Amino acid sequence: MFLKGPFKVTIPTLQSLSKPFLTTTPIFYVNAAPHLGHLYSLVLCDSIARFQKIFRTDRPVFSSTGTDEHGLKVQTVAQEQNKRPLDLCTENSQRFQNLAVLANTAYSHFIRTTNKQHVAAVQGFWNQLKEKKYIEFQHHEGWYSTSDETFYPESALQRIVNEKTGEEELVSTETGKKVQWSSEMNYHFKLSSLRSRLIELYEQNPNFVQPSIYHNQVLSELKSGLQDLSISRPRSRLSWGIPVPNDDFQTIYVWLDALVNYLTVAGYPWNSSDPASGGWPADVHIIGKDIVRFHCIYWPAFLMAAGLPLPKQILVHSHWTMNKVKMSKSLGNVIDPFELIKDYGEEIVKYYLLKQGRLTSDSNFEIEGLEKDYEHDLRRNLGVLTSRIQSKKLYVSEEVQKEWTSPIMGIEKHQEYINHLSQLPDTCAAYAHQGQMHAFIETLQNTLRSATKLLQESEPWNLESNSPARTDVLMLTAHTLRICGILFQSVIPQKSSELLDQLGVPKGNRTFKDAKDTFIATQFNLGKKQKNHLFQKKTPASTINSSISETFIKS
Ligand code: MSP
Repeated sequence: MFLKGPFKVTIPTLQSLSKPFLTTTPIFYVNAAPHLGHLYSLVLCDSIARFQKIFRTDRPVFSSTGTDEHGLKVQTVAQEQNKRPLDLCTENSQRFQNLAVLANTAYSHFIRTTNKQHVAAVQGFWNQLKEKKYIEFQHHEGWYSTSDETFYPESALQRIVNEKTGEEELVSTETGKKVQWSSEMNYHFKLSSLRSRLIELYEQNPNFVQPSIYHNQVLSELKSGLQDLSISRPRSRLSWGIPVPNDDFQTIYVWLDALVNYLTVAGYPWNSSDPASGGWPADVHIIGKDIVRFHCIYWPAFLMAAGLPLPKQILVHSHWTMNKVKMSKSLGNVIDPFELIKDYGEEIVKYYLLKQGRLTSDSNFEIEGLEKDYEHDLRRNLGVLTSRIQSKKLYVSEEVQKEWTSPIMGIEKHQEYINHLSQLPDTCAAYAHQGQMHAFIETLQNTLRSATKLLQESEPWNLESNSPARTDVLMLTAHTLRICGILFQSVIPQKSSELLDQLGVPKGNRTFKDAKDTFIATQFNLGKKQKNHLFQKKTPASTINSSISETFIKS
């Protein structure tokens, strides 16, 4: 029904009755090319989906992304470029899809809102709201921002002087986008009547929106009042959109259209089938902090009104900035993710984004930071440790490995380290469940640093071959790399798979459960040099020049 992702999705069998795990990215506007901020939403969602794949193997994992193609912005850009709106959408949607593939994100669904099934889902959803008497036809006046596709109350606006034209303009205080007065007849959604139910939702489910700072912000916004919402625009103003059922003169509001994508990917309208078979309710919607109101107020309200289950969680992330200013096409300070991946490869880029990206504070893009993370974390910490245990001097025979089940030299010697290692998977799982991938990565890196220290201090190369002390330290190092490699599959799947191959960890033993089995019997390739180093000495781009960041800025 929609474009399926490049990755195979296992369909639930009778044995696996658990609901598929469903995680989603926002769907991207097609009026501009993808930038690094978009890639971050994609990559964060991907790491969470990949973690779930190893975390529980008894259910499929669905991960959706796609493009948001209707609205005045697309209509205007298409006019300017003298193109048919659909052609413009197809062209730009393809770029987002290319990016998702290039970044090796394991999405299962790529949805386009111009897709027939989605149009039917939106109209079906509209009818459901109408039947439940949540829609009314009314006169509406207000300040509308085409760029943000939303009406703003006067209290959310400010006057500024446009630097270019010298003219005074009224703009949204939050986004800085221009608004225009609009007076029209349109359909309203009775949002205000759901205010107390929304407050109850937030009060009873303190984890509904994560991190809690956003949850609290939404709750206080709800408490300060809620107005009804205009959910259509006259067709004479907005023709590029989904028509209101049985009214040829009105077009459905783009945000209502866009939000329903999450239902469409889950197979709505389900008719006689079970919503759970398509993954609904979604386990986690991943969104940027600029679209909190739409996802955390409008979306649950629409679903409540339609009588449908709410998503389990909404995870909000902060923005990427360039020279400390939010990266955005309109400001022209965006990093081209295609160029960056071309020069560094997708795994280094993903690693950097996930390590430096934050949920509650903005992160500034710096190419030097990316180079540093590569050199310190990946090449030195992970790569060098892996090569060291492949050194011939550190060979451990198959027989010795077979006999070794846990440290022989007395648990006490390495007790603290062993405790850390056995708790590592659960510590990382807790971070992954909260979308704190930077903490997930830091925890793994700290572990690798401790392992390197252990190896250096124990000097196994000076210990007698087959001595218990030597075997202990080498097996501890190997299991550390095995456990870190399994967990790193959520972040750098390709390199993790290479690492686990080099170590000799069987493909079937790479799940969370295997990571929790701290000393699971494994025949490691200890002391056997591999053909390739996991990470090369130089990043492909590091030799170009020091002002490299300039080359990625899209003009
Ligand atoms: N089309 C809407 C979403 C509809 S979902 C039902 C939209 N599109 S967007 O293309 O503008 O943004 C898509 C995602 O990219 C959002 O989560 C947004 O926060 C994210 N980013 C856009 N710029 C960003 C940064 N500079 N940094 C990080 N993420 C940012 O909103």
